[in-house]
Amino acid sequence: MDLIEQVRLNIKDALKFLTDRTDGGVDVGIVLGSGLGRLVDTVERPKVFAYSEIPHFPKSTTQGHAGNLVIGTIADKKVAIMQGRFHYYEGYTSAAVSFPVRVLGDLGVKILIVTCAAGSLRLDLKVGDVMAITDHVNLMGVNPLIGPNDDEAGPRFVDMSEAYDKNLLKIAEDSARGEGIDLKKGVYVALTGPTYETPAEVRFLSAIGNAVGMSTVPEVIVANYLGMRVLGLAVITNMPEAKHKLSHDEVLVEAQRASDKLIKLIIDILDKV
Ligand code: HPA
Repeated sequence: MDLIEQVRLNIKDALKFLTDRTDGGVDVGIVLGSGLGRLVDTVERPKVFAYSEIPHFPKSTTQGHAGNLVIGTIADKKVAIMQGRFHYYEGYTSAAVSFPVRVLGDLGVKILIVTCAAGSLRLDLKVGDVMAITDHVNLMGVNPLIGPNDDEAGPRFVDMSEAYDKNLLKIAEDSARGEGIDLKKGVYVALTGPTYETPAEVRFLSAIGNAVGMSTVPEVIVANYLGMRVLGLAVITNMPEAKHKLSHDEVLVEAQRASDKLIKLIIDILDKV
């Protein structure tokens, strides 16, 4: 069996598992990054599936990532929430990292909201800020679409001129205004990690972006490939020239601290889309 056929079958297995256990399609997919998983507490009539029970889903290995797909309703929208994601640094291929987005696409998702923790590259972007991602720079050195293309899923060459949907961005700005949240905007630069950046890397990256992280871009590429509209929200967890050494625990604590704000924002956005 060729790779295209294998991926199709894997998606079909995962889809069947989920549709057998839920009713109807899903409108909005949401990916929750490090320390941001609590949005799932607001889901009405949630059905919770551990990634380990969904056929062909990778397993989440990162602390702060629960590893559940939660399907239910928020603000009258059918949502499928990834509580925790997969990262390239865990050893998965970029395609495996974004496999769940393929499954969300077949569940009917037309809008994908991706969230992440990120480091600031600019002094005007502070810890606790939420930054709407206007664009990205993929410095991961990989792309989830490398390999034979399934022309029935999406095009070989994918336009990325509006990878983050302008209308969704406008809705997010309206919601932020209504909720009294000072929503920042900027460019997200993706590296593989798992190391944080050296000072020289931060100086280099600050010329091309506003925030840096180790995720998001593979999912956003696949979402664009499938024709989804994407909104990206990054929570700033650390500054470029911290006076102390950076740890994953600090990133988790700061993401959790900002998560109430992010949750309020996402609920209001869901109400408006
Ligand atoms: N660098 C990369 N990824 C991150 C950071 C950072 O400073 N903070 C949170 N995720």
